Amino acid sequence: MCGIVGVLGDHEAAPILVEALKRLEYRGYDSAGIATVNGGHLDRRRAVGKLVNLSDLLVHDPLPGKSGIGHTRWATHGAPSVVNAHPHQAGPVAVVHNGIIENFRELRAELAAKGFHFVTETDTETVALLVQSYMAEDNTPVEAARLTLGRLHGAFALAFLFDGEEDLLIAARKGSPLAIGHGDGEMFVGSDAIALAPLTDRITYLEEGDWAVLTRTSLEIRDATGNLVNRDMRRIEVDSARVDKGGHKHFMAKEIAEQPSVIGEAIRHYMSADGNSVALPGDDLDFTAIDRLTMVACGTAFYACLTAKYWFEQLAQLPVEVDIASEFRYREPPITPRTVALFVSQSGETADTLAALRYCHEKADQIVSVVNVPESSIARESDLALPILAGTEIGVASTKAFTCQLTVLLMLALKAAEQRGTITPDRLADLLAHLRALPNTLNHALDQNAATERAARKLAEASDVLFLGRGLMYPLALEGALKLKEISYIHAEAYASGELKHGPIALIDNALPVVVMAPRDTLFEKTVSNMQEVLARGGKVLLITDAAGAAEAASDTWETIVLPQVDPVLAPILYAVPAQLLAYHTAIAKGTDVDQPRNLAKSVTVE
Ligand code: F6R
Repeated sequence: MCGIVGVLGDHEAAPILVEALKRLEYRGYDSAGIATVNGGHLDRRRAVGKLVNLSDLLVHDPLPGKSGIGHTRWATHGAPSVVNAHPHQAGPVAVVHNGIIENFRELRAELAAKGFHFVTETDTETVALLVQSYMAEDNTPVEAARLTLGRLHGAFALAFLFDGEEDLLIAARKGSPLAIGHGDGEMFVGSDAIALAPLTDRITYLEEGDWAVLTRTSLEIRDATGNLVNRDMRRIEVDSARVDKGGHKHFMAKEIAEQPSVIGEAIRHYMSADGNSVALPGDDLDFTAIDRLTMVACGTAFYACLTAKYWFEQLAQLPVEVDIASEFRYREPPITPRTVALFVSQSGETADTLAALRYCHEKADQIVSVVNVPESSIARESDLALPILAGTEIGVASTKAFTCQLTVLLMLALKAAEQRGTITPDRLADLLAHLRALPNTLNHALDQNAATERAARKLAEASDVLFLGRGLMYPLALEGALKLKEISYIHAEAYASGELKHGPIALIDNALPVVVMAPRDTLFEKTVSNMQEVLARGGKVLLITDAAGAAEAASDTWETIVLPQVDPVLAPILYAVPAQLLAYHTAIAKGTDVDQPRNLAKSVTVE
């Protein structure tokens, strides 16, 4: 969370910084700011709210200079305000920060005792004041930064800019990602390579504990022990279409519509050339050598894991544990050596998921990740990283990344089933054929846009919504509720249909819409019974099913959305589409900010 950038350039820094921040705005959008050194003088501009407010401010109050740092904030310490916005300046230094300085209270007390004054509520100001205090003791900027870094606990990516130093930038990474971009006689820093994509494709990633001293023509990296180290420079291919809505009103709409094509891409990538089996890169994942799969993720990615549990257990007879990363990392769960630990993350930078992955190092047989960003920390720290090939996802609410995660996890489960001999060749061929047809089936699901829009206009009137699903539809109900609440701000809960009688049924009345997700599968009749229990108590049911299900349920539903028939194993991928559309249209009806909902950020790099 929070995005940081830095530039030692040949051109005016402000527009470059703002453009790079635009590409990082997915990390937070509470406030934004930049600082430059011009004529030896450090100055800054900051504004509350979206980046556009900073751009407006710069029109009226420009900030010249060819060296600069910038920040887009997701507030952790202190409300979103100009005073709490980064860069934070203390005397001769300005700093931008992504992460949390855990010992900032102790440091603050120490600095206060020395007579330093604080003007913000942030942890970051402590860093700036520490540097200032070391510089006041006659340390050079580099020495002061080194001494400061040694005092900080927690997770951070930092960039420092100094008064009187137009050719110096210091960057540091511990727990939060940071990329250095190499230009021709220019140097850049960014929270990710995407931010730097218009500037350079030559990237060096700092590793844990690294800190770097940059000038326009040099880069010196030291590790946590202070030794000079070499870190590879790589050429990065970044999706340059990143900030393009492709004719859609919102990124979320574009990303929902892209699902048939990106899922098709993922299926082709993981299918053998003859289409008869699943092909993994390197083919070095042996599911016969393990007893257990431990899957860990957060949010939507966690629901992808919950869905995959059903697939791995039913198809491959492989026991699966699924955990939320923030719980897993502190529970100290025993990991037997015959366990594959699998981490699912769109960004590949989620702090809790990364910490859980590190916990499993040395314990699990293998660390596997399913990620969207191949250069991410989670991918780089895995033994095997499986890309989901969703392309850049900008909308804060995950859509295409979720269905691509499901697709890759299903193909992995099929691989496991094939290796473990728990699926017949005919059934495998059958499911692979259904997978090949899936992009087309998804196009038909997208055709239900108008029906979901109609239903969404009704949902937008509600203050609470319940989602129900059984079997593979239960994790999807959870995902449907999450999607709805995060972008429409309507309170939504999901339950396994069978749990209804154990408490939640008390909520049912005619003000509570109940979304029932139920393809006509072997569990359908049971779900319909639960639906009848809702209807009998005056509840309003929005049924999402297929034609056979709609014909059979034939009762007084409030709305029915009819999807194409699909093999029940693949249903979660298909039924995700109306769940996303429902949330999207409800949010539009409520007039919320679909792509950048309040309080959220796309990449959660703090715990
Ligand atoms: C919800 C959403 C989040 C993320 C979660 C994990 O729409 O996007 O719940 O799924 O923050 O993020 P990643 O997948 O980047 O680890």
